[in-house]
Parts: sequence; structure tokens; C-alpha cells
Amino acid sequence: VVGVKPGLYGERRRATSLYVRHAAAAERGAWSVSSVIDWSVIDRELAYRTPAVLSAVREAALIESFHPVNLARLMRASWDDIDAGVCFSLEAYEGFKHFHALRTYLEAIAYEPAITTAELVTLREPAAFVDIEADQLIERLVEFMLSEHLAAYFFRRLGEQSEEPQLALLLGIISADEVRHAQAASDLIRKRIRADRSIIPRVLEAAASFRHFGEEALGGAVPVAMHGDPLAIRTFARRIERLCGVRLVDHMKASL
Ligand SMILES: [Fe+2]
Ligand SMILES: [Fe+2]
Repeated sequence: VVGVKPGLYGERRRATSLYVRHAAAAERGAWSVSSVIDWSVIDRELAYRTPAVLSAVREAALIESFHPVNLARLMRASWDDIDAGVCFSLEAYEGFKHFHALRTYLEAIAYEPAITTAELVTLREPAAFVDIEADQLIERLVEFMLSEHLAAYFFRRLGEQSEEPQLALLLGIISADEVRHAQAASDLIRKRIRADRSIIPRVLEAAASFRHFGEEALGGAVPVAMHGDPLAIRTFARRIERLCGVRLVDHMKASL
């Protein structure tokens, strides 16, 4: 049976809400940090064969740790959107797991420099009290969607580069979460476009001037940005085009 049966949860029949679908998808994709990989068989030597992967894992852990700052303001700005509150809550929990699992992995292989609490707080400081203006919510949602979209590619590629099998496995699983997060954000934007098609140019403009929110987390350095990943960029453009019914290149040409 699709949707909610009459009387279930004491409610009348209604279309399945966006948040119900995403909560169900999150449950299907759920994993736990303690058992997601076999922590007892991590091969330290193999891990250190790809130092660039490890330093990217460290930076990714820092970006994942930044979610409470970014999501708190998104939640505040979308307080009257029940679906958004659920999607951002799921993102906050799963983003926390990403941070927790990545940091635990680095600790398991005694990676230096170790991530410290002081470092995490310092990263949050400059953005802690920056709020989202009500008239900027669409732009921030687009930025969020694209950050998640690129994160999915980033983790997938990083997993492919890791010679250590447990890290490769972990990164692949995190990547699958990011695909869901990008989809959730995309659905939130679609809902707003359906309610008001006049926001389409703003969605296109935000996509054209995209800046990874990790840039804010790391003060300018953007390890998670997909410079040089044409597939990520192409699929990113396709996501926007599906939402807006306009080709991103056409929009960019028109606004030159
Ligand atoms: Fe994440
Ligand atoms: Fe995410």
C-alpha cells in the first residue's frame, strides 16, 4: 500500500510527505559506526601508501564536523517547512556519523596531526553567528544541494583511490549517504519551485555562482570541491536543469 492508510497514526489518508519518504530512505540506508567496517583488520601500511587520501579524509572530517553551524541556520531559516526540518535533522545525524567514523579511522591508524576539539571549535567560530537572510534561503538551499552532490562524488573517488580496503568501504558507504542528502535538498527546492515558479532564475543564478560550503568551514581551501571532475560537474548541471527546465549553460550565456 502506497501512502498512509486511513486511521493509521490517527490521520486521514494523505499523500506520502516528502519527509516520510526521506525518513524511510534513511532507515533503509542506516549503518552504525561501530560495525560499518571491520575496525580490527585495518591495514595501517596500506593506508599510508596513499597519504593524499589520508589528508583528504582529515579535511573531510573537519568539514563534516561543521554541520551543526551550517544546518542550524538552515533549520532556523526554514522553520515553517516541516519537510526541511526533518531532512536537515537526518543530515545532521548522518553528517555527525561521517565525522565520527572518519575521525575514528584516522585515530585507528594514529594519523598526525590528530584532530583536536580546539581545532573543531576554532573552525566554527567565524561562522557561528552568521544567519541566513529570509530572502537568501533558496540560494542557500541550492548551495547545500550542490555541496552534497559534490561530496558524493568526492567520497566515491577517494574510496577508489584508497588502497586500504576498510577505508575504501567506509568512503563508499558515506558516498551513498551523500547521494540521499543531495536528493533531499533537491526535493525541498522542487517543492518550492512548484509553489512559486518565479524562483527558478534564482536557483539557476545560485547554481552558476556556486561556492562549496566547505570553503567556509576551511577558510578558503576547498579539498572537497570537484575541480577537474567533469562527471560531477555534468551531473550537477543536470540536477539543476531537471529542477528548472532550463539548461544551465543557456542561463549562463543569457546572463553574460
Ligand atoms: Fe557527509
Ligand atoms: Fe551530507
